[in-house]
Amino acid sequence: MNSNPKDRVMIFDTTLRDGEQSPGATMTHEEKLEIAGLLDSMGVDIIEAGFPIASDGDFNAVSDIAKNTQNAVVCGLARANLKDIDRCWEAVKHARRPRIHTFIGTSPLHRAIPNLTMNEMAERIFETVAHARNLCDNVQWSPMDATRTEWNYLVRVVEIAIRAGATTINIPDTVGYTAPVESSDLIGKLISMVPGADEVVFATHCHNDLGMATANALAAVAGGARQIECTINGLGERAGNTALEEVVMAMKVRGDIMPYYTEIDATKLMHVSRRVSTVSGFQVQPNKAIVGKNAFAHESGIHQDGMLKNAETFEIMRPEDVGLSETSIVMGKHSGRAALRSKLKDLGIALADNQLNDVFVRFKELADRKKEVYDDDLIALVTTFEDSSAKDRLALKSLRVRCGTAGPANAKIVLSVDGVDKSASQTGDGPVDAAFKAVRDIHPCSAILALYQVNAVTEGTDAQATVSVRLEDNGMIATGQSSDTDTVVASTRAYIGAINRLMVHREKLGNNQTQISYKDMA
Ligand code: KIV
Ligand code: ZN
Repeated sequence: MNSNPKDRVMIFDTTLRDGEQSPGATMTHEEKLEIAGLLDSMGVDIIEAGFPIASDGDFNAVSDIAKNTQNAVVCGLARANLKDIDRCWEAVKHARRPRIHTFIGTSPLHRAIPNLTMNEMAERIFETVAHARNLCDNVQWSPMDATRTEWNYLVRVVEIAIRAGATTINIPDTVGYTAPVESSDLIGKLISMVPGADEVVFATHCHNDLGMATANALAAVAGGARQIECTINGLGERAGNTALEEVVMAMKVRGDIMPYYTEIDATKLMHVSRRVSTVSGFQVQPNKAIVGKNAFAHESGIHQDGMLKNAETFEIMRPEDVGLSETSIVMGKHSGRAALRSKLKDLGIALADNQLNDVFVRFKELADRKKEVYDDDLIALVTTFEDSSAKDRLALKSLRVRCGTAGPANAKIVLSVDGVDKSASQTGDGPVDAAFKAVRDIHPCSAILALYQVNAVTEGTDAQATVSVRLEDNGMIATGQSSDTDTVVASTRAYIGAINRLMVHREKLGNNQTQISYKDMA
């Protein structure tokens, strides 16, 4: 196994910043802390925890993650102005190993936004990076849209940032425009031509607009980058970022041609992927590399036959390498609490006693309705269960629907609203529409339904459905997820979950504070 320090690639995870910034992926404070804890224990080197100036919520999340992280460097993002950088430092300074990441758009299109000349921008870069370095000895600088920045200007500003004290230079392909051959070339040329380049770490930050983010990041490593910026499940702006699980496994499996290594514990990938999917509400596509539901499934006769004779016929990695245990029928209604705890442990899920009790009740309910309970059923049950919180203001007490060919669907619902039971009955275009209308009768909600997605967890007509609902209200976005063998129940719970989250976001932001984006170049 390669352990040469010069081939060690650091993993910079930006799920909580670039990932969370993608429309609809908003996470609560507790969820961000949980994900940061998982990333830390998985061996991520640097966690980009958020953008502290963006909102009080972001600031508090970054500062709490900074206080709680054991090993990883905790980084916050700041635009190229002193106020942003000071705010960022206030949030990350609690970390054992803090980092300030400051950036400015350097391409012609991005320079036009703050309306700075090349010289003015160069001065701004020196001033802001030097200011950050006075606060913190670990400073990352990024020329946003580097891959569309004029070469001579890019060399000039990278040199300025290094002179001003940057310790990491990140080269973002902000719009996902570059191709692998260019990516490796660009990093290689910068390292060989910029004075002082050998004193700093070069990083790569790729977006997936042309589906090349993973290839571009790996090519950048071949060119000399030793930090990959990436997200779990490839979450991120537009088509997303480089997927952490893909680069980590690519380097592991193809060490013969990519002789680099990371310190990531790959057996944790599956669990972290599922948690990020649940809390962000972004389901992983079934054929997604490494963590998709079908990534290790073999359907066709020829494949199954080959697999039975020798798994290597069609598998280049083993499911257990990424933390996937074989899906099996686990338990039925006679299984006890100890068996459930042990099965969940095998699946990488550790629950406190009180959580286990709650999950056990849900498991028994499920086992009563479903003949065979699979690993995936249990995972769906636990992950979507964790999605609902005791602090929720709305909770589903009961739901009865009538539907079919004989007329409009009807839903009768009882909700607990701040502890008081309220009921409503509504008709609609199908049972889900009727149930959502009945919810709104009890709790008026003008938010737009931005996403309604149903996925079967396993096969068969008694399969659980995992439903994701995303709501949008005045720029605020919230997602709810739920699983149940009854699709209408799962849908209604997911809808109620999204409404609960919207209320939490509203309370946190206050009514007149709007969130700013890193693209608002004030
Ligand atoms: O894509 C990008 O350019 C970014 C920067 C803030 C690094 O996310
Ligand atoms: Zn980005």
